[in-house]
Amino acid sequence: MMPRNPGNGMSDRPILIIGGAGFIGSNLAAHVARGGRRVRIYDDLSRPGVDRNLAWLKREHGPLVDVRIADIRERTKLESAVRGAEAVFHFAAQTAVTTSLVEPRQDFEINAGGTLQVLEALRALDQPPPLVFTSTNKVYGCLPDLPMRIEGRRWSPVDDVLFARGIDERRPLEFRTPYGCSKGCADQYVLDYAQSYGLPATVFRMSCIYGPRQFGTEDQGWVAHFLIRAIEEAPITIYGDGRQVRDILFVDDLVDALVRAWRNIGALRGRAFNIGGGCRNTVSLLELLEMISQLRGRAPEVAFEGWRAGDQRYYVSDTSAFAQATAWRPRVSPRAGIEALYGWLVEQRHALALAGVIHA
Ligand SMILES: NC(=O)c1ccc[n+]([C@@H]2O[C@H](COP(=O)([O-])OP(=O)(O)OC[C@H]3O[C@@H](n4cnc5c(N)ncnc54)[C@H](O)[C@@H]3O)[C@@H](O)[C@H]2O)c1
Repeated sequence: MMPRNPGNGMSDRPILIIGGAGFIGSNLAAHVARGGRRVRIYDDLSRPGVDRNLAWLKREHGPLVDVRIADIRERTKLESAVRGAEAVFHFAAQTAVTTSLVEPRQDFEINAGGTLQVLEALRALDQPPPLVFTSTNKVYGCLPDLPMRIEGRRWSPVDDVLFARGIDERRPLEFRTPYGCSKGCADQYVLDYAQSYGLPATVFRMSCIYGPRQFGTEDQGWVAHFLIRAIEEAPITIYGDGRQVRDILFVDDLVDALVRAWRNIGALRGRAFNIGGGCRNTVSLLELLEMISQLRGRAPEVAFEGWRAGDQRYYVSDTSAFAQATAWRPRVSPRAGIEALYGWLVEQRHALALAGVIHA
């Protein structure tokens, strides 16, 4: 079957999503396809479980989904994939700090080298399309200079302004851990290509994103991981004291932000934005455990271990720069989002068990 033509004046050129079978990529792909637009997924399916996302996308939106199974490091395949794209979202990455410490070279080759490959493929085009790249809050390091105090089950900044607003883009960069270095390097390359070559590119420095289609593990995606462990009735290991605070952002709100970034690329090009749930959507690990207890009617089993390298006691994004530029704001509260993800995991439990994501 031929792809549907939007028939409403919209371009029929595909939206390229590199890493499009992953958690964020598949959610964006579904959103784009629901709007009647074509998506091109470029992914090597190296993340366990993401083939299920791809199968779901093809089932739901078959004719609109063009799939390229390839590694971001395969230059000619990537060059072919960017040709004709209306916009490019680059999500493919080695995503875990822990793995980066074990395999720093591979982490660098995928995250830094792979991103340079994307930029070079775009630079070669006569009219490069908008590029949105997902960086991380880890580019700001461990934030050791920010005084914190314990308030019940969470760390909290002593400084009232920081407490009220979160961390903005003026925060100095400080790359920690190989993952922080490789993503930070990529982040800087994207911004530089916007300056040096005029690429219409922008960077999201993201806090914790969560939602359906996330196959969280102990190494990455802690909200989904905690829920999966609770459903498996297996113990959850907390590294550190569990009072670490993050601003969590439900994936639908992120998808909204990604689309706004593409649509407003003229104003956003060459800029990096801190993106997360912001001050109104924060949760500590201990607070998430409490929510899980309420959802399930009993407390999950918990074990404590030492702090992990590069872990921040407190990270909350100040998203006001992006909000001002695009009128975006997160709409889903942590409680509603966590209930939605929990419901999805329970509903998918048998399918996820077959895929080895959940141990039933
Ligand atoms: N999820 C979060 O909380 C979060 C936070 C900050 C930043 N990020 C960044 O957002 C992006 C997407 O994250 P996600 O949670 O969707 O991760 P994910 O692992 O679900 O998705 C990444 C996708 O990239 C693919 N991939 C990995 N290496 C590849 C390679 N060499 N070639 C081609 N494809 C490859 C994987 O198979 C996977 O489908 C990543 O760049 C990540 O660093 C995510």
